[in-house]
Amino acid sequence: MPAVALVVAAGRGERLGSAGPKALVALAGRPMLEWSVAALQRTAGIDAIVVALPPGVAAPAGCSGAEGGPQRSHSVRNALAAAGPKADVILVHDAARPLLTAELAERCLAALDADGGWDAAVAAAPVTDTIKRAPGGLGVRETLDRAELWAVQTPQVFRRAALERALARPAAELAAATDDAVLVERDGGRVRVVAAPRENIKVTTPVDLELAELLLAARAA
Ligand code: CTP
Ligand code: MG
Repeated sequence: MPAVALVVAAGRGERLGSAGPKALVALAGRPMLEWSVAALQRTAGIDAIVVALPPGVAAPAGCSGAEGGPQRSHSVRNALAAAGPKADVILVHDAARPLLTAELAERCLAALDADGGWDAAVAAAPVTDTIKRAPGGLGVRETLDRAELWAVQTPQVFRRAALERALARPAAELAAATDDAVLVERDGGRVRVVAAPRENIKVTTPVDLELAELLLAARAA
């Protein structure tokens, strides 16, 4: 089944505080974006890669480019529109997760195809912290059962029709969505998790960038 990968790289990286776009920040000798593109180029079953980019940034070699949008889900939508009509399966990945491996992407693709009629298969790691709900950062209201909790990552793999329906949800939902799977869930779709290593971190703040450097250096060693 032909699959296309969409890499969203159009964010501003405000929490990282770098001078330019986060996706282009130097990481272990290359722009951050190139690490996930390289992993997807090694992934069996991916036929094409479309990258949603900040204004004025060229697509990496071997990829096509799309304009980023004001919110993450708009960037996904623009990249999907640029992907052409052929692929039935769409893998979405954040450029901010440079530790992606082809092995993880392949397991997510395989999980969607497994029995169960899934609409989406999303990489996720079991939560290791104890999570409490404390609205406003003060009084604790609730301690959640950690055994049931998964910290969701990308890649997230979708049946194309389910993703298209999800991306047609109301504008307020799209603006608030921090991943695409939540939109599929709202739409009544069936989403499954795929166990992923915690190493597949998201670079959000400067300490994440330091950690990503160390992890990539250890991989090269
Ligand atoms: N993203 C995007 N288009 C946007 C917003 C985010 O393509 N309008 C992408 C980012 O480039 C990133 C991924 O979505 O790869 C996850 O977003 P996040 O980690 O929040 O990155 P930024 O939005 O760039 O960072 P910040 O929220 O700190 O500004
Ligand atoms: Mg953001």
